Amino acid sequence: MAQIIVAEHAGFCFGVRRAINLAEEAVKDTHLDRKVLSMGPLIHNPQEVKRLEGKGLMLLEDESMLDENSTVIVRSHGIPPQKERELLSKGVRLVDATCPFVKAVHEAVIKLCKEGYFVVLVGEKNHPEVIGTLGYLQECGGKGVVVESKEDLKAVLGKEKVGVVAQTTQNEQFFKEVVGEIALWAREVKVINTICNATSERQEDVYELAPQVDVMVIVGGKNSGNTRRLYEISKSLNPNSYHIETPEELRREWFEGAQKIGLTAGASTPDWIIQAVVDRIKELII
Ligand code: F3S
Repeated sequence: MAQIIVAEHAGFCFGVRRAINLAEEAVKDTHLDRKVLSMGPLIHNPQEVKRLEGKGLMLLEDESMLDENSTVIVRSHGIPPQKERELLSKGVRLVDATCPFVKAVHEAVIKLCKEGYFVVLVGEKNHPEVIGTLGYLQECGGKGVVVESKEDLKAVLGKEKVGVVAQTTQNEQFFKEVVGEIALWAREVKVINTICNATSERQEDVYELAPQVDVMVIVGGKNSGNTRRLYEISKSLNPNSYHIETPEELRREWFEGAQKIGLTAGASTPDWIIQAVVDRIKELII
């Protein structure tokens, strides 16, 4: 029978696993008259979101839904401190599932701001994590800019003291280029590398595994950016790469004649889906 090799870092990262556990505890602990709501989908995986909804977790669609009987789960991306105060002023109970690696970005920004640096946050302007981090910069009375492309560096020209941090899931290569460019003209540059290694670990697994297997299966939400990126890398190394969300999407013909089958999953894919995919592949290759 063909061998199935599951990548070392397949599936949930530390921060997502923690957020799910906190949400599950909140739903379990809560009394019948309380609502437990998450600020946006807790993770980018529709099947896991549905499972949590089945346990009572609701999506906060409109803040008029909130009252003193509400428990709000802050996602791993975090929120601006101003938003946190606003929610608390409504009398809601907050469960803070902000990933500690995201909190480290907040702390880095506050430190740079207090030391008088103009802050460059390398990241995506509309990403909830970046919006949350900018709230901390604003709170501290600091100045800064989000750099999403090299074009955005225009705002940094002429600044003497520049402090650079990154969104946790930022591409390492782009971060390096931005730092290198600023170092050419700023008088002083302080860099705090806040990239979390969960993304690069998952990508490195694919670089290693995809070329040595006959078929590569990538499991994760079609709406999950980090899963799509794993698929793109895999496809560039092995044309027999497939991105699926559920075991039902697997096709017997993909595995015909295959001796080695590789499998990985994005940081928002739960273990139970990974296991169901492994079980289904075993049925198909008998
Ligand atoms: Fe946290 Fe990194 Fe995951 S920042 S949520 S451990 S991708």
